[in-house]
This record gives sequence, C-alpha cells and structure tokens, in this order.
Amino acid sequence: MLTNLANFFGGTRLLPVVEIDAAEDAPALAAALARAGIRVIEITLRTDAALVAVERILEREDVIVGLGSLLEADQFRYARQVGARFVASPGLNLDLLSVAEVEKMPYLPGVYSASEIMQARDLECRFIKFFPAYTSGRLSHFSQLTPIFKDLRFCLTGGIDASNLAEALALPHVEAVGGSWLAPRKLIKEKNWEAIEATAKEAMKIAGAERAEAAA
Ligand code: 3PG
Repeated sequence: MLTNLANFFGGTRLLPVVEIDAAEDAPALAAALARAGIRVIEITLRTDAALVAVERILEREDVIVGLGSLLEADQFRYARQVGARFVASPGLNLDLLSVAEVEKMPYLPGVYSASEIMQARDLECRFIKFFPAYTSGRLSHFSQLTPIFKDLRFCLTGGIDASNLAEALALPHVEAVGGSWLAPRKLIKEKNWEAIEATAKEAMKIAGAERAEAAA
C-alpha cells in the first residue's frame, strides 16, 4: 500500500509547485511560504538547482519538501539522494510507482483521463494529481469525471490561481490544489519574498473560507 501524501497537508490543502533557478534562494522561499502557513512544497526537477534546493529546504522542520516532475523511475535516485519526502510526476509511471512503494515514499502520480484514473485506482493510488485541471477556461473536465471515482482524492494542478482556487477547492473529491502561482519563478528570481508570502497568504485565506463554508 502506498504511503499517502494527503496526510502531509494537515488541512492546508495547498501545494506550491516550484521552479527554482538558484538553490541559495530556497531557504528564503520556504520561509516565506511557511510564514503564510504552507506545509508542503514541491520542487520540480526542471532546473539544475532543484536538487540542492530540496536539500536546503529539508533543513526546515515546519515544511515537507518533495521532488516533482519526475518522468522515469531512474530519476527516483535523485529523490533518494537528497532525502526528498515525496515524489510527484505529471503522469503515472508504473516503474516509478513500484520503486516508490518499495521505498515507502509517497508518490503523487498525474492523471487526466478516465482510463488513467482507473489504472491508478487499480494500482491502489488513492491520492492522485489531476493535471492539467483548468483548461479552456474551465474545470469542467475534472467535474465530469470524478463523480464516478468516489473512493479517490485529488490534487488539482495546472492553470490554477487565485481566480479559480475557491471553485477548485469546492469541487467534490478535491483534497488539495497546487500550482506555480503560489511561488512564481519570476518572483523567486527577483527574491520578492513579500509578494510570494502575500500570494500564499491570500490563497490560505481562500482555502480557509472554503473550509468554513463546507463545514457550515
Ligand atoms: C505541475 O507540474 O503541476 C504544473 O506545471 C503546475 O501548473 P501551473 O504552472 O499551471 O500551476
């Protein structure tokens, strides 16, 4: 049985998906996100700085950092090497799933179609990334598919920002929502930690309001 990444969120429901160009920016970035209350951070393996950035964030005890955008099982060794706490990929890679299972590392695979969701479900994945979630200005593709899969929980990523976050969080079966808008590459490059903290705080506020509404 796969270790469930959903447990890491502790109710925060937000996952910054980070492309970082300079590893030395990682501690300040993580601090800004943590000040906003973010608990989980995905550093994508899309830049040369990604691995050292994960290592630098691991020094913090108040956030959980994983390595994302893994495309093949062989790349799992990077996650192991730096001590990432979870791995994520845009699609579902069976070999990656196997190695993650053996090593008891939470794995967040991506899906987009009913067949992919069924395949992930067959493989006992219960918390799955739905990517890309917001396409052609709507979240309707996800909404049409998920009523069928009542035993699964999803993390929506791709095209989410403050304008559609509340709508995304309110959808049934959505456990978390992620994206680069929470820590834009440009703002990281500019070391604009205040803006990143403000964006993350705004998102946490939206998530909190949605939670209150759901509980009412
Ligand atoms: C991901 O890896 O989940 C996506 O690249 C995030 O998409 P976004 O940049 O549209 O948020």
